[in-house]
Amino acid sequence: MANKFADLRAQMTPQSQARAEAKAQAMLAEMQRLQMEPSRSTTLPISPATQPPEPQGHVLTNILNLQDIRKSYNVGTPVETEVLHGISLSLAQAEFVSLTGPSGSGKSTLLNIIGLLERPTSGTLHMAGERADTLDDAGLTRLRGRTIGFVFQFHHLLPAFTALENVMMPGIIEAGQATAEGEAFGRELLARVGLAGAEHKRPGELSGGMQQRVAIARALSLRPRLILADEPTGNLDTVTADEVFGLLREFNQDHGSACLIVTHDPRLAARCDRPIVLVDGRLTSG
Ligand SMILES: Nc1ncnc2c1ncn2[C@@H]1O[C@H](COP(=O)(O)OP(=O)(O)OP(=O)(O)O)[C@@H](O)[C@H]1O
Ligand SMILES: [Mg+2]
Repeated sequence: MANKFADLRAQMTPQSQARAEAKAQAMLAEMQRLQMEPSRSTTLPISPATQPPEPQGHVLTNILNLQDIRKSYNVGTPVETEVLHGISLSLAQAEFVSLTGPSGSGKSTLLNIIGLLERPTSGTLHMAGERADTLDDAGLTRLRGRTIGFVFQFHHLLPAFTALENVMMPGIIEAGQATAEGEAFGRELLARVGLAGAEHKRPGELSGGMQQRVAIARALSLRPRLILADEPTGNLDTVTADEVFGLLREFNQDHGSACLIVTHDPRLAARCDRPIVLVDGRLTSG
């Protein structure tokens, strides 16, 4: 048990550690109460996300609006460098968009800013009808948790937790406890990504492709309105990459989640609704 919390500590940001630890304590107690180990087969339809009411205004037809976003690193030092030079970009609800560009062009930086993990140096960012660039850390955490599902190249699964526990983790952190509905949806998502029967396996017992599918199930567990994926298929073979991409597409079509996918694979980019290309910190299309 102590090791589980050490893993959580190592993998979460300092701000979220204390909170996550308390939540994980509650989760583990709740999981024991629900006696999660015996397998239960529950199938729930994927229902539409509960969308908060949005104020009126021109930004609201889009899930995302960026205006003149700039990002500099090492601000105020001799090595200050601007890596994003005024990005303006909108994403409509349910759009499925690729983000490509050379290594070092700023794709991950842009995705981290859109994902509310990093703050822009200047510019405005609206997400789900809310202005995000002026929110405090608590506001960013709330908006991020409610709106965004992340898939990274390296899955960042928590190694001491089972596949099902990993998928349930965002819901537990959000709600403060495990719920039977969360568990049922976690099982449903694992089944959808082809991992029925692997619920109680730990990441180390799964192949790379299976781990990435768990990470996708986890990203979808709160039915996010916006899915951000940074090279989600970057370390997978072609067949597994196609499957993983197909899952994102399926969720996008069934559920209406917007999707922004960073990829180096032109085949996958060609299968998106709209390509966005970043070169040297500037958009060249989109
Ligand atoms: N924390 C940081 N501090 C300083 N410079 C950074 C930091 N993060 C990124 N950079 C720089 O910003 C630029 C853009 O990096 P970024 O990781 O966004 O590129 P990328 O397009 O995702 O590249 P790749 O395709 O290799 O993943 C690079 O020059 C990088 O060195
Ligand atoms: Mg990158």
